[in-house]
Amino acid sequence: MKIAVTGATGTQGGAVARLLTERGHEVRRVTRNPKHPDDVHGDFDNPDSLEQAFADVDGLFLMTPLSGPSEASQGKAAVDAARHVPHVVFTSATNADRGTGIPHFDTKAEIERHLAAVHPHWTVLGPAAFMSNKGFVALPIPPTLKLHLIAPEDIAAMAVLAFEQPARFHNRRVDIASDQLTGPEMAAIRGTEFVEYSLAQAETYSPDLAAMFRYFTETGLDLDIPALHAELPEIAWHSYANWVTGRA
Ligand SMILES: NC(=O)c1ccc[n+]([C@@H]2O[C@H](COP(=O)([O-])OP(=O)(O)OC[C@H]3O[C@@H](n4cnc5c(N)ncnc54)[C@H](OP(=O)(O)O)[C@@H]3O)[C@@H](O)[C@H]2O)c1
Repeated sequence: MKIAVTGATGTQGGAVARLLTERGHEVRRVTRNPKHPDDVHGDFDNPDSLEQAFADVDGLFLMTPLSGPSEASQGKAAVDAARHVPHVVFTSATNADRGTGIPHFDTKAEIERHLAAVHPHWTVLGPAAFMSNKGFVALPIPPTLKLHLIAPEDIAAMAVLAFEQPARFHNRRVDIASDQLTGPEMAAIRGTEFVEYSLAQAETYSPDLAAMFRYFTETGLDLDIPALHAELPEIAWHSYANWVTGRA
């Protein structure tokens, strides 16, 4: 298959592009600054460039950059530019479709609704917090809260499975996580101490992220990891310990 991958120079798209290539698919890496032989120019601020980047492919891996309120219009324009692409796999966030009130989740929900309304064949992935995030040992969450986490490689495995088994994931939304740990458990794996800071402090640098951590703490994500892994045994889900050790 020939697959266009947005965000291919970033965490999710990079992992997806690498796995697609490993599995023998043809990859079109969409970036604002083409450098790699598989790169094509595409800019979320210029839907015409996306239309060209998405021409004549069998599938599109669509991520949206964190760009505040404009994420929704950029994402919806990207969906429109992909109207001829046979299968769009959009990566959103866990429980983004639940009306969480978290600004960067609600923008993704708007893109999800648009995709489902206008495209005949889509899959939405709802990844949890990335294991690759920096600063996981200092968080505005209580030390007893177990945070849902996902390895970027597991997002890629899920996306590639969706492209390779389109009927199984036809017009489905799947929230995905690899493991679930408390801050102190994550810190112990990293050989350090967990530092809890307040949501008021988090507000001062990002009201959006503070809203997300408040939701995680007060409502909690609805994602049953054992049930998910039982449904998708072909994915070699990483534990956080294995993922960190693999990068040591
Ligand atoms: N971090 C988490 O825990 C987490 C969890 C769930 C969901 N998410 C979501 O994941 C998304 C970010 O994904 P990521 O972490 O994989 O990305 P990333 O590593 O931050 O990389 C950003 C990517 O976006 C591309 N990009 C930025 N602006 C662009 C534009 N105007 N046009 C075209 N491409 C553009 C960049 O490509 P070029 O610079 O090469 O153009 C780059 O490949 C966000 O929407 C975030 O909310 C994150």
